[in-house]
Amino acid sequence: MRRILVTSALPYANGAIHLGHLFEHIQTDIWVRFQRMSGHECIYVCADDAHGTATMLLAEREGVTNEALIDRLRGEHAEDLRRFHISHDNYYSTHSPENEHYASLIYARLKERGYTFTADVAQLYDAERQLFLADRQVRGTCPRCGAEDQPGDNCDDCGATYDATELGEPRSALSDAKPELRRSEHYFVDLPQFAGFLREWTASGPIQPEVANKLAEWLNAGLQAWDISRDAPYFGFPIPDAEGKFFYVWMDAPIGYMASFKNLCDRTQGLDFDDFWHPDGSAEVHHFIGKDIVNFHCLFWPAVLEHAGFRTPTRVHVHGFITVDGVRMSKSRGTFINASTYLEHLDPEYLRYYFATKISARVDDVDINLADFVQRVNADLVGKVVNIASRCAGFIGKNFGGRLAAQIHNEELWNAISEARAPLAELYERGDMGRAVRDITALADQANRYIAEREPWKHVKDPARREEVHGVCSLGINVFRALVIYLKPILPAMAAKAEAFLQVEPLVWDDAAAPLLDHEIVRYKAVFTRMDPKAVDRVVAATRAEDNALASEADAATISIDDFLKVDLRVARVVAAERVEGADKLLQLTLDVGDHQRRVFSGIRSAYDPAQLVGRLTVLVANLAPRKMRFGTSEGMVLAAGPGGSDIFLVAPDTGAKPGMQVT
Ligand code: 2FM
Ligand code: ZN
Repeated sequence: MRRILVTSALPYANGAIHLGHLFEHIQTDIWVRFQRMSGHECIYVCADDAHGTATMLLAEREGVTNEALIDRLRGEHAEDLRRFHISHDNYYSTHSPENEHYASLIYARLKERGYTFTADVAQLYDAERQLFLADRQVRGTCPRCGAEDQPGDNCDDCGATYDATELGEPRSALSDAKPELRRSEHYFVDLPQFAGFLREWTASGPIQPEVANKLAEWLNAGLQAWDISRDAPYFGFPIPDAEGKFFYVWMDAPIGYMASFKNLCDRTQGLDFDDFWHPDGSAEVHHFIGKDIVNFHCLFWPAVLEHAGFRTPTRVHVHGFITVDGVRMSKSRGTFINASTYLEHLDPEYLRYYFATKISARVDDVDINLADFVQRVNADLVGKVVNIASRCAGFIGKNFGGRLAAQIHNEELWNAISEARAPLAELYERGDMGRAVRDITALADQANRYIAEREPWKHVKDPARREEVHGVCSLGINVFRALVIYLKPILPAMAAKAEAFLQVEPLVWDDAAAPLLDHEIVRYKAVFTRMDPKAVDRVVAATRAEDNALASEADAATISIDDFLKVDLRVARVVAAERVEGADKLLQLTLDVGDHQRRVFSGIRSAYDPAQLVGRLTVLVANLAPRKMRFGTSEGMVLAAGPGGSDIFLVAPDTGAKPGMQVT
């Protein structure tokens, strides 16, 4: 028995689970379920990647604490993934005591062994927001092609990569302020010291050849020290003995794999952390990731583990990007589909099956085609595999008392099906699920031909051929059972329904070695139903609607500068202020606006004594349409702000302003 620890990349705690996450988690889960069915101990852990500026800013926008935000998102993420049958043993958070422990321990070991240093770094600083800006939080003119409004790491127009400090006319994406260059001390891991180790490690077989080539390129170009610190304010773990410095989110994120596992060990008998993470441990560690984060997982991570006294990964399984109908997922096209939106309309196993047909051991991008999605599920899975059970089960039930024949009717067919388990296992092991599904479908074709040629429906009433019909249909059911075994890592819920129909214990891989003979099954109920193509349209429409709702929310939340310029703001002096009979919130103000006077009713009575106001300057919205009220007409509005009660603050210009003066 192998002992295997498996992880998927940790989803960021700043958005919902979408198709991209699902592809990776489904790919990982299929591999994990295959290992478990093959008799291995396979532990699958994940977590939310909680730290970093993006989390902090989202919490601020939502007006909640970082902790409240990450708790909510972790709950939502875990639930979405659970509903897609992702069989994590633990779904934790990187914002955990275990993670802080290991991040600090790893850092201390690297420091003690001379692999870290500090250096002064000049970085763009937003003085208005009082924080250092991450590259993506700066926008400006591309230093290469001159395109305007480009992010601080690379140009969307010409693809150039550069330092944020090289942008022309830089602006903060957070406040639009012009950022200033500020120096501060940063902490580094001295990656170049690990180059020799990384050359050996990457060449020793833990990664796909395309990835190894890419890494060799990077190694040949020379490694740079890795900046692992960020200045306060930052949502992360404080670096020990470094006032105001925090670990960069990518430092503690992969350590989150260990921390999630440790948290599981602490509540699971017989699961020992060191068996999996000690350099001499015999267990395996497998990471599943997308190609965009190869540098973190195949350079930083193994180097850090090795030099901090832990084991390195057995394998890093890298997949490509997801496109839908040939282009990147997009909300406005309705293809940036969230897990929860999908689940409102479609069965998760449709997607698990379709994704499986697309998974390979290569790093190529994966294109999802919505028409093909419906076709593969309905034509292949329902039309071929499930069809075998639905066409044979009725005969067994009605004519043979629900009992399968005592012998295999056609050894040749059975052997072809049963012996496929070794090559299929090899495909699963190396991650070629798409090829496995194609081979399974071909086996279903073979069985369907066999049944069609023998036409049991024609002969069932002929006593002389009864035994043959029993044999053919029983073999059909046995083929179906074997195919269910082969598909079980992909379709666990369908397999559970098939197990109930077949009256068997949970199926494992080697069950395909022998058929069910002289065995009673129950009445067949559909284990899988056809997909309604209109439901896919509904998912796309719902996704578009979400996008529109967000856009109009954003529109509603802002006004354009043109809108704002329409407002005529004037300095006004309060000439008289009095309470209004019958309106306990209002004061009636008489305002001097330079060349004339205005009467305005204002809801500021709870905060101001009328006598105090006389003689004060304030700002009047002079071109507001007059409003008829019960007590008279209000000819404008004075600007005031505050939560209410006694905290309402009348906006007042600097002393010295003249009534009637335009406020610009
Ligand atoms: O790229 C991402 O979505 C990261 N949150 C993945 C982190 S994986 C691991 F290193 F934690
Ligand atoms: Zn450019």
